[in-house]
Amino acid sequence: MPILKWDENYSAGVKILDDEHKQLIAMINKAYDSVTNMEEDIVLRELVKEMRAYAASHFATEDNLMNTYGYPALAEHLEMHESFAVKAEALNNLVSSGDKVDPVKVFKLLADWLRDHIMKTDKELGKFLNAQGVK
Ligand SMILES: [Fe+2]
Ligand SMILES: [Fe+2]
Repeated sequence: MPILKWDENYSAGVKILDDEHKQLIAMINKAYDSVTNMEEDIVLRELVKEMRAYAASHFATEDNLMNTYGYPALAEHLEMHESFAVKAEALNNLVSSGDKVDPVKVFKLLADWLRDHIMKTDKELGKFLNAQGVK
């Protein structure tokens, strides 16, 4: 079962942001499924690695847009991305440690963070970008 499901309420009103958010949600779901389906640890490790890399590249997309258009709340927004990166790293350490720690809790934290961030912080950014003519 997916831990997050994209719908129109998640839309930030900017195509590249929505596309990347959909992809990020799909990757979280795929990694989460591998835990709930009790797949090999190595599968989960690989999926978490891919998800972290994708999140980093998505944050760079937003960073570039914020810089290009002189977004006033850039610093606060970047701080939030950093807090996701820290949680994702914690998950990574958890799945790499080989300890039998249940990663479901960390997935829930990540999913909650992402939902919240997309719904509030990225929507704010989307509104600003729309006003600059970015769709
Ligand atoms: Fe985002
Ligand atoms: Fe963001």
